[in-house]
Amino acid sequence: MNFQTVLDEIDTEIRPLLGAAGTVASYIPALARVPAEHFGIALHTRDGEEACAGDAREPFSIQSVSKLFTLTLAMRCLGDRLWERIGREPSGNPFNSLVQLEFEAGRPRNPFINAGALAVADRLVTQARAGECEGDGDRPGGGPRDARDDLLALMSDLAGEAVAFDAEVAASEAATGFRNVALVNFMKSFGKIDNDVADVLDMYFHQCAIRMSCAQLARAAGFLCRDGAHPLGRGRATDAGNVVTDRQARRINALMLTCGTYDAAGDVAFSIGLPCKSGVGGGIVAVVPDRLTLAVWSPALDASGNSLLGMKALELFVAKTGLSVF
Ligand code: DON
Repeated sequence: MNFQTVLDEIDTEIRPLLGAAGTVASYIPALARVPAEHFGIALHTRDGEEACAGDAREPFSIQSVSKLFTLTLAMRCLGDRLWERIGREPSGNPFNSLVQLEFEAGRPRNPFINAGALAVADRLVTQARAGECEGDGDRPGGGPRDARDDLLALMSDLAGEAVAFDAEVAASEAATGFRNVALVNFMKSFGKIDNDVADVLDMYFHQCAIRMSCAQLARAAGFLCRDGAHPLGRGRATDAGNVVTDRQARRINALMLTCGTYDAAGDVAFSIGLPCKSGVGGGIVAVVPDRLTLAVWSPALDASGNSLLGMKALELFVAKTGLSVF
């Protein structure tokens, strides 16, 4: 299959639709000023082949796509102990909802809603401070670390290029993130957060503020289509050189399919049939297990907070290639 041709065709079909529908996230200025007319798509195959079209090399705010990588860091350090604090069920509620936490005694439904990602951030702060588990492929463990550095090290190692936070976005997230402040305090009231809420929030607001391109994201997520093996064929030795074990990679894919696109996960499984993780910056990472990873970006969002044309592009990809879990 000629993937470059497929991506070029999708770019040609999507481009006339840009700006016509959907709403760019406006809760912070750095997102509100991104033009709706962007579209990028990139893929990385199990064998390392890459293809890109449109604005695939332009960095954008990955926002909640980062939840995929913080989950990866926590799973590979804690293994099944992570699930003592976080569930694995779709929430059926908006990503920043507080209501379910009250009924479920501060245990978030899954790691991809905000409450779950904050609980994961708490685990990452603990493991970095304790010097448990190294945070990237090259550094030995031992000694206190900063969880934000662990995440950047992982992302840079996976992407094969330096990845950074956008300081303006991190500051704006902190200035406007009142619901996240509420969520973490609420969980702490149930004894489910170990660290200071300020430290957990600082980690979370920074992870939302990572800037990456589709090309970098498709590559960085490559371990999910290779049974956990490093997308560039190197990396940290957890399991014969893998980023995560093959079992963990399957589980991350399962969570992406069931919980990765807010409360639209059922519709996404129905219409696209791929594990996906989206963010309000308009990015989506999708996985065809054992074949390839995709990243798409278009800033205008649908009512659920997923990229409208990003989802359309994934639908086109599945229709053109026949590649889907189902
Ligand atoms: O936490 C927030 O409210 C924003 N940074 C939105 C993050 C996002 O992409 C949606 N989350 N699931």
